[in-house]
Amino acid sequence: MRVSTPALELRGATDNLLDELADAVRSGKTHAEPLPYDDPISLYEPDPDLRVAKWLRAIWRGRGKVEPEAWRLYFVVVVDGRAVGMQDLIGVDFPSFGTVTSFSWLASDQRGRGIGHEMRAAILHLAFDGLGAKEAGSDAFVDNHGSNAISRALGYEPNGSDWATRLGEPALLNRWRLTRDNWQRRDDIQLHNIEACRKYLPLS
Ligand SMILES: CC(C)(COP(=O)(O)OP(=O)(O)OC[C@H]1O[C@@H](n2cnc3c(N)ncnc32)[C@H](O)[C@@H]1OP(=O)(O)O)[C@@H](O)C(=O)NCCC(=O)NCCS
Repeated sequence: MRVSTPALELRGATDNLLDELADAVRSGKTHAEPLPYDDPISLYEPDPDLRVAKWLRAIWRGRGKVEPEAWRLYFVVVVDGRAVGMQDLIGVDFPSFGTVTSFSWLASDQRGRGIGHEMRAAILHLAFDGLGAKEAGSDAFVDNHGSNAISRALGYEPNGSDWATRLGEPALLNRWRLTRDNWQRRDDIQLHNIEACRKYLPLS
């Protein structure tokens, strides 16, 4: 399964693709300051090999959990044939509300060139156009300027705030909400082989 835009592809995260990404995880290219991820997450594990092991186990566990209240599609972001990050789509009580949220990271040496914006636009296309979502949410710590800027630029509206911890320290999260009406549809994003998603995911 793939989502393609003029700048990148989201490819279903096979073990081969995860293997291509493992060096970025091992060398800490998932890191950012201020800390961007809420607890618990494998990416905060300090030992590099253990970090990769925990990261893979979390993805494998997530692949196996497909319930109406929660499912998660894992994608590897590929730019010019190279695996550079991940962009996941998470269904949250989808049959009741049509709601999704997303999670992403991009290797630190690839940031600041518009890739983060493009990969979020791609996953929104899958959610709204491919799966018929009604609303997409996103959370980011108030000091995660990249993620907040992407949500704002893509038409999300502020939806309050929440507390979460990062490495045990409390911090405020911005909550964002993008309705189907406010989603800016693009004609240059394509979905490939998504029939299996419709067949196997509990969407209704
Ligand atoms: C969040 C992330 C995916 C953004 O990817 P990116 O490719 O760097 O972002 P882009 O280049 O598409 O930038 C998008 C916008 O954010 C702004 N931005 C990006 N990084 C920024 C920073 N560190 N400080 C201020 N603004 C920033 C850009 O100027 C751009 O704004 P614009 O649309 O007004 O021009 C990436 O920074 C990342 O992987 N961070 C660590 C993990 C993370 O935060 N994940 C999200 C958890 S909620």
